[in-house]
Formats: sequence, structure tokens, C-alpha cells
Amino acid sequence: MKRILVSTSGGDCPGLNAVIRGIVKRAAQDDEEWEVLGSIQAYNGILWEPTEIKLLDEKTVAGIHYQGGTIIETTNKGGPFAWPVFNKRTGEWEYVDRSEEMIRKLRFMGVDAVISIGGDGSQRISQKLFEQGLDIVGVPKTIDNDLSATDLTFGFQTAVQIATDAIDKLVTTAASHNRTFILEVMGRHTGWIALHAAIAGGAEVCLIPEIPYDVNKVVAKLKSRYHKGRGSAIIVVAEGAKPIAGTETSHTSTEVGYENARMGGVAYEVSRAIKEAGFDSGDVRETILGHLQRGGIPIAYDRVLATQFGVKAFELVKKGEFGRMVSYRHPDIVSVPLTDAIGKMHYVDPDSDIVETAKGVGICFGD
Ligand code: F6P
Repeated sequence: MKRILVSTSGGDCPGLNAVIRGIVKRAAQDDEEWEVLGSIQAYNGILWEPTEIKLLDEKTVAGIHYQGGTIIETTNKGGPFAWPVFNKRTGEWEYVDRSEEMIRKLRFMGVDAVISIGGDGSQRISQKLFEQGLDIVGVPKTIDNDLSATDLTFGFQTAVQIATDAIDKLVTTAASHNRTFILEVMGRHTGWIALHAAIAGGAEVCLIPEIPYDVNKVVAKLKSRYHKGRGSAIIVVAEGAKPIAGTETSHTSTEVGYENARMGGVAYEVSRAIKEAGFDSGDVRETILGHLQRGGIPIAYDRVLATQFGVKAFELVKKGEFGRMVSYRHPDIVSVPLTDAIGKMHYVDPDSDIVETAKGVGICFGD
């Protein structure tokens, strides 16, 4: 019998459970015998004493494809290369490399291969573990759709749908009150969710990190939507958006082991900036959609893509193709070296067709 260990790491993402189910169901149908285990909270389950491991069999994964979150939990803090340890003497947190110990433990447990489902940061860890001799396969995951080695990631379309539903709701209240609404959506340093939701929801303005905005152009667009104080408008702003010659709205997290910048709050910056630049045609309200974009059931598209990724990940393990990540290259599910998958972000190209489409229906990017 061969044994696979599955880990989900980074922010949760609709479709994670469908990937897990895809791996388990494919393994159960194989001509060889496999056991699939899940490490609780990414690699913490292996590193904790006692370990926290969950057996993932067909019974455990039955019906999880439509559940949000991940049945084996996740974390976006620490990890085997930076395990936080509190130094009582200095009163500071220190970060310890426990990767070799973890690989030894996995071998002791009879784990033949690891499937790591995670985003950019997680796949960096996968590559380092692979270089240390661990047989590992990556599965890309992020609602932000910011990985360059795959056409799409599961979870993104669900996030876009949730953001679009939010616009549909804001439109009616905006029109009723003659207000401008600013909807802030996630995406970190990329504007994919904002761009797609702005087109799908019929927004007037879309602000994304890849196109720094001129607030005066945004105000001109808004004013054109009002006549004698009547009118309404929707601005969709990606959390990483910034003005020309300005910076993104983020701060350093105080959470132990949290390495990324904490985003959020740009809606208030945009609100303040448009008023300072002379927008006085109507009231302005801000809505930050936040983690609602990651919760709840994945839409059908993401369930399909996630299932394809899970089945492909199992097949890579079976064929011994380690150090690779599953990838979607329309219409195929392929694999790429983990080294291709990390460090290269997938940004919105300001000259792309999709931006042209948005501009074609009158969406203002402030450029
Ligand atoms: O990367 C996914 C994501 O949801 C980003 O869009 C967002 O900036 C970040 O994670 C939020 O992270 P956390 O859940 O740690 O607040």
C-alpha cells in the first residue's frame, strides 16, 4: 500500500474540499492500493506533538465538493521553514527551520508523497521541500487568480460571483438614494476580481493596482453620472489599488508568523480622495466585501476545475512526477515545474482585451 499526505495552506478558497475529494476518489479507484491522509492546518498537523492527521477515505469526503473552507483546516502563518518559537529570555518570537525534522517524520509515518494545495507562498515551501528530497506535487489555489503558471485557479470565479452579487445589491440602493457606492474587493496586488466583477456588475469605475488612477478622472466620470444632484454610481476598487504616484493601502500584521502585508481599507482612501478632489454631487458610502468572497459554496465551475486538479495531482504522484504543480492551460490540465509556478505573478495587462472590453462599455479606470 502507498500513502499520500494532503495539506491545504494559505487562505481558504472555495473548491479546496473538491480537490481533496478528487484526490481521494481517484486514489480509491486505482489498481494499486492507496491510503490518503490529511495533515490538519497545513503542515502543523505533522509538526505538532502529538501529530494531528485525518484519514481521508471515500466516506470522509462524501458530499464535501460543495462545502466551502477545507475539512483539514489551513493556516497562512509560519510553516516548516519558519516555525514560531517564543524566546522567554528576549521576549521575542524567533523562527526555527523544522523542515528536515518534518521530512524525517513523514518518512517514519510511511508517507510516500505529499500533495500541497496552496498559493504562491505554499508552493515556494513545496519547492524547498522538494529540493530537500521530499516527493511532492503542488496544486495551485487562490481566489486572487494571481499565479502565472496556470490560466485560472479554482475559487476565483466564485469570488467574482460573490462580488457581482454584491454589486447587484448595491445598484438598487445606490439608485434609490442617489448615492455613489465604493465596493472594495480582494485580490492582493492584482485586480482580477475587481475587473471581472466590474464588467459583470456594470460598474462605472474600476480601480486596480495595475492601472494607478488619477482621482480627477474618476471624479469627472462620477459627475457625468449626476444631473441636478440626481444619479448614482458604483466604483469597484481592488484592495491593492493605488493613485498615480501613490502607494497601496496596507499595513504590517502583528499576528505571529504572518508574513504578508495586511490589505484592506482602500475604499475609505478613495472616498476621501474623491471628496477632496471636488466630488459633491451625491452621498458616498463604502462597502468592504472582505472574507465573504472566500466563504460559502463554490460555484459549479470551480468545483469542476478543483476536481480536475485533484485527479491530476493524484496521477502525477502515481507516475512519480514530483517537483511539479498541476496547471490549467485551456483546455488541458497539465503540469509545470514548481520553479515555474513560484515568484511570477499574473497581473492584469492594461492593454489586454478584457480591459478594452471594460473601457468599451464605459468603465473608467482613472487613466
Ligand atoms: O490571497 C487571498 C486573500 O483573500 C487576499 O485576497 C487577501 O488580501 C488575503 O487573502 C486576506 O488574508 P487573511 O485571510 O489573512 O486576512
